[in-house]
Amino acid sequence: MNVPQHVAIILDGNGRWAKSKGMPRTFGHTQGAKNVENICRIAWNKGIKYLTVYAFSTENWSRPGDEVNAIMDLLRSYLKTCKNTAEKNHMRVRIIGDKTGLAEDIQKSIRELEEFSRDFDGLNFQIALNYGSRDEIVRAVNLILKEKEKGILPGDGIVTEEMISSHLDTAGIPDPDLLIRTSGEMRLSNYLLWQCAYTEFYFTDVHWPAFTEEELVKALEHYSSRQRRFGKTGEQVE
Ligand code: IPE
Ligand code: IPE
Ligand code: MG
Repeated sequence: MNVPQHVAIILDGNGRWAKSKGMPRTFGHTQGAKNVENICRIAWNKGIKYLTVYAFSTENWSRPGDEVNAIMDLLRSYLKTCKNTAEKNHMRVRIIGDKTGLAEDIQKSIRELEEFSRDFDGLNFQIALNYGSRDEIVRAVNLILKEKEKGILPGDGIVTEEMISSHLDTAGIPDPDLLIRTSGEMRLSNYLLWQCAYTEFYFTDVHWPAFTEEELVKALEHYSSRQRRFGKTGEQVE
């Protein structure tokens, strides 16, 4: 099987999963966070080197205040768990998104986690928090403008694709080979728009907390079959 180097996931359906069990939405988020732990371990065992999950978007602030607060509290405890997992599995954790929009204590935990895990050589795990792809591109362009103003922009002053890529939050991380969205929605919701230019997409109706190893294998098989069909050169094999 041709295993993708980088898998990106839009973790969707926590609320619907909880509702189907007669539970509050926040229960769905708690179970969803637990499942992130599972999938990190399983992904690494399958040979995936980079995993990037969409946990909270720039648009998600418009949800009811109670739900946003519950998600932020869950994030606080998740970041602690994540540090232990990183230590145990030698996982390198990076956060993409506008960290400055998060509470000060969360920013501090993120800095500690990123610093603590920076030299680990296991799974490269990226969590998108307060992330929006358009926001990320705008921030990258503004960084480039600032460098130009200071006269430290490399090259002849022309903005290139490489320059934009290297100013995004995902600088140094290869583009995703496979993008998975759970829970039936077939849209990107402002996720990795630049990075997914050539990414294979896989959609499933399964809600995120119920997305098991078996479901991941289905997505990986789908990816592997697409690769066989079109090969690397874009030529159809079958
Ligand atoms: C995904 O689940 C988690 C977040 C966006 C924080 P949702 O909360 O979007 O669940 P549904 O889509 O309403 O079921
Ligand atoms: C996308 O899911 C964002 C995350 C998974 C964090 P949403 O549930 O927020 O997206 P929409 O509102 O259905 O587009
Ligand atoms: Mg949703």
